[in-house]
Amino acid sequence: MKESTTYMYATETLGANVSQYSESVSLKLPQPLLEYHARIYKDRDDSNYMISTFEAQALIFLSRLLGAKRVLEVGVYVGYSAMIWSHAIGPQGKVTGLEFSEEYAQLAREAAKENGYENIEIHVGPAAETLPTLANPPEPYDIVFLDADKTGYPGYLNKILELSAPGAKNRLVRPGGIIIADNALRRGLVADSSSDNPWRPADFENAWEKQAVTALREYNEIAAENPRLETFLIPLWDGVHLIRLLD
Ligand SMILES: C[S@@+](CC[C@H](N)C(=O)[O-])C[C@H]1O[C@@H](n2cnc3c(N)ncnc32)[C@H](O)[C@@H]1O
Repeated sequence: MKESTTYMYATETLGANVSQYSESVSLKLPQPLLEYHARIYKDRDDSNYMISTFEAQALIFLSRLLGAKRVLEVGVYVGYSAMIWSHAIGPQGKVTGLEFSEEYAQLAREAAKENGYENIEIHVGPAAETLPTLANPPEPYDIVFLDADKTGYPGYLNKILELSAPGAKNRLVRPGGIIIADNALRRGLVADSSSDNPWRPADFENAWEKQAVTALREYNEIAAENPRLETFLIPLWDGVHLIRLLD
């Protein structure tokens, strides 16, 4: 294709069929994790917090491409993506999760135990407070996955970069490590919040949603302008933003 426009398929049904087909020919997820995702989806009203099984496949592929062993996740919810990371990196690796809610963290810990993922550690509290406590880790992280409050993303990125200074001993993220930010397009609102976007909420101007969109734009821009970083924004799912630390 010569054109850059993302081809989103002519109808919603065709888009769903294409996604389903792509998922079916991509790497297999462990059956217990498929079942956990299905159970949360069925039982909980807030299940839209979870990444999809299709996105999970992409994250596993990416982490293995990078040979990742240590993953930091900001925003754990009930542990689905944390278990996906644990599966991706294997039992010798380590997943550190930061989660605001003690209730979610407890459910995530129980799920990890039940499913035999023993290398997940969760710190409870606002990530703006727990993230700095991870300074000077014994080994740097290979991947950071941002999936918490969107208004926090710019601050998380700045803190991660500060704790990963070039040449510093015990930096947070290694040179060549990646920072993945979920929902970087927010139903397209980050790129187009005009009334032409059918997913723009009626109360967008006054709502919290606008603050999230403003913060995501700021995040995408500060990453794009920082010479220490190389970026790529994938317009799949809700927008998956990738940063690679060059130094
Ligand atoms: C989208 S959900 C995470 C979903 C999870 N990554 C998954 O795919 O299974 C966002 C989570 O971030 C948490 N969160 C929101 N604000 C936070 C903050 N300031 N610090 C830490 N966690 C926060 C929420 O409690 C929620 O569990």
